[in-house]
Amino acid sequence: KIPVITIDGPSASGKGTIAQLVARKIKFHYLDSGALYRLVALKTLQSHADIHDADQLAQIAKHLDIVFKNEQIYLEGAIVTEDIRAEQCGLLASQLAAYPQVRAALTERQRAFRQPPGLVTDGRDMGSVIFPDATLKIFLTASAEIRTHRRYNQLKEKGISANMADLLHDIKKRDERDSNRSIAPLGQSADARLLDTSALTISQAQDTVLSWYNEIVHK
Ligand code: CDP
Repeated sequence: KIPVITIDGPSASGKGTIAQLVARKIKFHYLDSGALYRLVALKTLQSHADIHDADQLAQIAKHLDIVFKNEQIYLEGAIVTEDIRAEQCGLLASQLAAYPQVRAALTERQRAFRQPPGLVTDGRDMGSVIFPDATLKIFLTASAEIRTHRRYNQLKEKGISANMADLLHDIKKRDERDSNRSIAPLGQSADARLLDTSALTISQAQDTVLSWYNEIVHK
């Protein structure tokens, strides 16, 4: 069985950063499942599709022409690595992600990333739905205030000025929508280990994940 480490958690918890670092360290493949939802959102915006037509959105998801290569993301041949990070894409992604048809259309695409020697993936339902037999499942979180600060600094680094109060509001709104939806709601599943990074540095969080994984593998 090809090993999988799943890191699920709320918006701006740092799961993407940690998952990527862990993958690099142990030379596993990496899947940013949120990017898939963001890509569906971007394509939906570009094609002026009706965001209330779940079947049409599922078709978009199913036929999406995407490539992940050298840390870049391509949509129909064009680099969209930065474009999909826009808050607008994140918000729309979270709306589209509430449609079961859209989620179903992305299921096999996500499972196809499970290739030797292994996979590290982050999202909301990687451990609960997509890879229920994962080797290690983590629920990674941090307080809403800490996540807001991290997102603020991330945007600042890119030269984007943001308002802290607005960001906190957006993060809470997204948490609420992701938690209250009936399909793949955000939350810690019973078989996932909780990793609260509020007081941890990136490298401490990375080390924790690696030590948990080694513990399981060498048991
Ligand atoms: O980076 P951030 O946590 O803000 O978001 P993301 O991981 O890029 O995901 C964007 C949106 O896609 C989230 O708000 C989720 O609603 C949705 N998503 C999901 O439903 N399932 C996943 N496995 C990944 C993302």
